[in-house]
Amino acid sequence: MKGKKIVLGITGSIAAYKSAVLARLLVKAGAEVQVVMTPAAKEFIAPLTLSTLTGPAVLSEFFEERSGSWNSHVDLGVWADAMVIAPATASTLGKMANGIADNLLVTTYLSCRAPVFVAPAMDLDMFAHPSTKRSLETLASWGVHIIEPKEGELASHLVGKGRMAEPEEIFQTLEKYFDGPAKKTLEGLSVLMTSGPTYEKIDPVRFIGNYSSGKMGKAIAEELAERGAKVTFVSGPVESLPKSDNIHVVSVESAEEMYRACLSVRDEYDVAVFCAAVADYRVATPNDHKIKREQVGALSLDLIPNPDISAELGKLKSAKQWHIGFALETNAESEAVIDKMSRKHLDMIVLNSLQNEGAGFKVDTNKVTIFDALNGGTVDLPLMSKRNVAKAIVDRMEELRFI
Ligand code: CTP
Repeated sequence: MKGKKIVLGITGSIAAYKSAVLARLLVKAGAEVQVVMTPAAKEFIAPLTLSTLTGPAVLSEFFEERSGSWNSHVDLGVWADAMVIAPATASTLGKMANGIADNLLVTTYLSCRAPVFVAPAMDLDMFAHPSTKRSLETLASWGVHIIEPKEGELASHLVGKGRMAEPEEIFQTLEKYFDGPAKKTLEGLSVLMTSGPTYEKIDPVRFIGNYSSGKMGKAIAEELAERGAKVTFVSGPVESLPKSDNIHVVSVESAEEMYRACLSVRDEYDVAVFCAAVADYRVATPNDHKIKREQVGALSLDLIPNPDISAELGKLKSAKQWHIGFALETNAESEAVIDKMSRKHLDMIVLNSLQNEGAGFKVDTNKVTIFDALNGGTVDLPLMSKRNVAKAIVDRMEELRFI
């Protein structure tokens, strides 16, 4: 994406606020971004927000009233290496499909020689309308790339037709277009992964859990799958799951379920990546009925240890299997990591440090240090998006010839 010139078209949909995230992702990846907005888009997001993120002033009108200068859609169309319209409303799609060039955005599209991507955004009925369908079919037949949301398994109920693809998905589509598909260096490799939090039941409506979002695990699974590995992805309850033909998702809730799912494939994997934030304890006897406040008064729960999945599988692993763990330490980091590595028979540990801003739970960035048991080396990575951290981790696995 570095140095690529992108025209980012924004139209009047409530999803317009997400274009700010897309603009930021593009700029962070080194692209030059020129935003073009329709007049309606400016009702949803301020041009200043976008120009602050991207640099150049946002273009919207044919003429700049103040200076009298003309914004040339032809120049823009020639300048661009790609044009991406996100969100693209039914109205803009219709205009594009019919050459109705009544604003700068559609004229730029008509002049554009570069590939064009659109991310439709509208409500279900508008999306299902034959006119929208026809616009999209027409545009697709001219080679316009239509970006629709990917559906994760658990999250599928949240994905309504017509909802705009997430900025990250749009970015990935562009990145793949420019950088080409990843080399299939991991074809034939079988990987077991754990990811996400575990929920330990207290009663039918309550549980003990943790803040893990599973984002890091998802990014690693997608990176492995993209390089051709087959991944069994055992995940605790999360909002968004990875999706790929190479990823088989096994959804679980508790640590014990996660442990059983892993045990059942113990002879089938070459590499295991233990990314899950497994609860170390569970309630000894969860209540069958909802615990009532009046009945118990002060409440204490009896907690018993959960299986340590990585340690148990570590005891069973063959010489050919490689194990990679994660650690989150708050003090004496290196010693704790080295100790954990030998205790759990891990070959590599990715240390998340909570001491770094922008790292850890719920955020899209992370800062990690990779320790390996082969040569006792450590690699310190800078603060990066979780996706790039995933790439770096898989690169390191390849370098160490685990895979
Ligand atoms: N892990 C696991 N099963 C558990 C606990 C942890 O598989 N019951 C794995 C994690 O997925 C991670 C690694 O072990 O890869 C280290 O997790 P961490 O929570 O740092 O380790 P703990 O063993 O819980 O150590 P601590 O004493 O620091 O809590």
